[in-house]
Amino acid sequence: MDGEEPGDGGGRDTAADDEALLARMRAAPVLAGPLPRFAPEDAPNTPGPLFARWLDRALAEGVPEPHVVTLSTASRDGVPSARVLMLRGVDTADCACLFASDAESPKGRDLAANPRAALTWYWPAHGRQIRMTGTVGTLGEDAARRDYLGRSAASRAAGFTGRTSLPLSGPGEYDRARRAAQDLIAAEPGRVPDGHTLYRLRAQEAEFFQADPARFHLRVRYTRSGDGWTRTLLWP
Ligand SMILES: Cc1cc2nc3c(=O)[nH]c(=O)nc-3n(C[C@H](O)[C@H](O)[C@H](O)COP(=O)(O)O)c2cc1C
Repeated sequence: MDGEEPGDGGGRDTAADDEALLARMRAAPVLAGPLPRFAPEDAPNTPGPLFARWLDRALAEGVPEPHVVTLSTASRDGVPSARVLMLRGVDTADCACLFASDAESPKGRDLAANPRAALTWYWPAHGRQIRMTGTVGTLGEDAARRDYLGRSAASRAAGFTGRTSLPLSGPGEYDRARRAAQDLIAAEPGRVPDGHTLYRLRAQEAEFFQADPARFHLRVRYTRSGDGWTRTLLWP
């Protein structure tokens, strides 16, 4: 899928265009199925194994990028923001998820100020949404190092361009930073960027939504309570 969308650069800002866009959205199929079956009464007593089972099935059946997840954070003042990132590991026994980022990025600063966050997955081909909320901690330098050095050279080089989310003056500046990063990892393949951090969200709540083409969706929420979990069916 190459090239720019037709009409890029303006010319589609009228109310009629918006109406037409809405009509096309309405015509687009959603939850068409066939979708997998989910029997909440057979769900395990803890959410970790259910998450692992759903993720494993998504991977096995070729659901596109099921390990890409939306991370929502909020600043100390409660200003929310969300972005997608890659899941870097799961701890099924404790229902915790790992992800990696730059501690100096906006999300890293949000998490340092306010460690409460949410993860959301949506796998359209399975009609499944999973939501977890919890508290985020960081793993140590060794774990961050292993995570980083296990990546492809391209991904390691990208991590050294740094300055996530700061304004970029133009393609020239980016190109120079990319080249410098490629030279750096070629010269020092064991080097890890200072801010590279492996985060761990320990779920306090985990919710599983199984869509139904007939719209009789099923939702199950697990809430941590002491050493165990309570499991509740929710109205969809
Ligand atoms: C498919 C995909 C995977 C991504 N994976 C990561 C990731 O693992 N870690 C990360 O920090 N950013 C990742 N990003 C970039 C983030 O979405 C985001 O643009 C960037 O981290 C800046 O976010 P922030 O300004 O909220 O900190 C990914 C983006 C896409 C589209």
